[in-house]
Amino acid sequence: MLTAHKQDHPLAKDFTDKIDGILTAHDNDPTQIVNILLDVQDLTELHYVPEPAAYYIAQKIGVKITTIYDCLTFYSSLSEHPRAKYPIQICNSIVCRVNDSDSVFSHLKELLGIDIGEVTYDGRFTLESVPCFGACDQAPAIRINGKVYGHLDSHQKVLQLLDTFI
Ligand code: FES
Repeated sequence: MLTAHKQDHPLAKDFTDKIDGILTAHDNDPTQIVNILLDVQDLTELHYVPEPAAYYIAQKIGVKITTIYDCLTFYSSLSEHPRAKYPIQICNSIVCRVNDSDSVFSHLKELLGIDIGEVTYDGRFTLESVPCFGACDQAPAIRINGKVYGHLDSHQKVLQLLDTFI
């Protein structure tokens, strides 16, 4: 159960300092909660918001911990669990689908040997199916760590893209 001041795993001081910097940059404004969580998530190698950080942020900006976890579970760009170093988000919305995002998904599955929600053996890649992230003019598109890669209309293009991460 989520309690208001859970601190089972205290945060390292340098991590806390960085979170404080992010909170200051957003004026400790609770309406900026999603952007704050995105920035904090970017501090971690595995692109997630660790539990102690979630409690710390809740306390600092004066929101309930459940509000933090509502955001972490609602927004596909956010995660409460460690992800791969390169989470690959495949758009599953209409424009990408009519531009054959299913083939992009098949190429990625074949090249990486994983399915949606799985992580490669080396912890580098995971596949996530997400709604439109506003790159419809580049469909079919994927997003990796916030950066969009579009027009992936061939096996070769997907392979070349993956090569840039190895
Ligand atoms: S429909 Fe895929 S990015 Fe918008």
